Amino acid sequence: MDISTELEKAINEQIGIEFSASYAYLSMAAYFERNAFDGFAKWMHLQSEEERLHAMKFYQYLIDRGGVARIPSIPAPDWDFESVIKVFEASLEQERDVTRHIYGLYKIAQDESDFATVSFLKWFVDEQVEEEKSVSDMIDKLKMAQGNLDSLLLLDRYAMERKPERQA
Ligand SMILES: [Fe+2]
Ligand SMILES: [Fe+2]
Repeated sequence: MDISTELEKAINEQIGIEFSASYAYLSMAAYFERNAFDGFAKWMHLQSEEERLHAMKFYQYLIDRGGVARIPSIPAPDWDFESVIKVFEASLEQERDVTRHIYGLYKIAQDESDFATVSFLKWFVDEQVEEEKSVSDMIDKLKMAQGNLDSLLLLDRYAMERKPERQA
């Protein structure tokens, strides 16, 4: 059964949203590199790569279901930030926005009784819980640091320990 026109359109949009997130994280990585926070930069590079893989998951799924992939254009992301915590706050906003879009997709798939798409989207629903949690945890730690440089450098080293996520 081929995918519906409405889901095809929504998944193409989602491909754009995931690539936008990937771009945004790359831009955040560049900010940290400019400011000598190598650990935070690495964290953002890993995030950027994860988002690219998310986009590719949607891309492959669309093709597997007989859909036409029409990759949308990507707006330029923010490149400058006031502080370390502001970057992570922007990241949390972005993740919440992605979650809302995935819920929107889920709703369309459910309304159409497209259970293959419902099943496919479940991985993303769970992934978003993880994504929001890891960013929220970092924000909590940054709040405790209160902008103190020694604490920020410790957190930067902690961010450096992050390992690439295993993709399902
Ligand atoms: Fe994503
Ligand atoms: Fe994400």
